[in-house]
Amino acid sequence: MKKVVVIDHPLILHKLSIMRDKNTGSKDFRELLEEIAMLMTYEITRSFQLEEVEIETPICKTKAKMLTGKKVAIVPILRAGLGMVDGILKLIPAAKVGHIGLYRDPETLKPVEYYCKLPSDISEREIILVDPMLATGGSACDAIHLLKEKGAKNIKLMCLIAAPEGIEAVQSSHPDVEIFVAAVDERLNEHGYIVPGLGDAGDRIFGTK
Ligand code: PRP
Ligand code: URA
Repeated sequence: MKKVVVIDHPLILHKLSIMRDKNTGSKDFRELLEEIAMLMTYEITRSFQLEEVEIETPICKTKAKMLTGKKVAIVPILRAGLGMVDGILKLIPAAKVGHIGLYRDPETLKPVEYYCKLPSDISEREIILVDPMLATGGSACDAIHLLKEKGAKNIKLMCLIAAPEGIEAVQSSHPDVEIFVAAVDERLNEHGYIVPGLGDAGDRIFGTK
């Protein structure tokens, strides 16, 4: 089973605490989410392969390290995952972006699929699946299942806050997927919300309710 990487950098935790505050409005919430996604990308790309290429500095010829150019796809789970895409694209501008639309039925808490559009060469790409909240894990598990049906092999899941229940669900259904989170919270409440969490991420990003 792949491990869970908790990216608990002080800058990330500081920004996350502002996001958790119920008095933080949508504008700041969106900006902070984008910034945290960018900071998390630094860690999630640590395993990217480098190769030596020959370059010429103003002084001499030398060998220098460059990325091998492995192809990346960022796949947000709609809606809330959209809030993380621009931050990742700032560091991986050549990545393609696929979209998976899922919403959680408020009664059953089961995810309902309403959209899926992925790059045609998804099976050759390193995939960063993004969603700020990993609660029961139902949405992430379904999204990973969908990606695998389309041929995806190499999937990393990037979330802001996870409940232990969500981590367990992904690890048991998809042990090959590495999970990156900024924080693991205490538990889920009776409505399936993460405690203490930050509330409904989609509503806070888009100002709906
Ligand atoms: C939220 C969140 C995840 C899901 C997590 O989305 O963004 O996708 O819930 O819950 P789970 O782990 O129990 O499946 P929501 O269904 O509220 O849709 P939205 O992003 O459109 O608001
Ligand atoms: N979805 C959210 O947006 N927040 C939670 O706490 C759980 C699911």
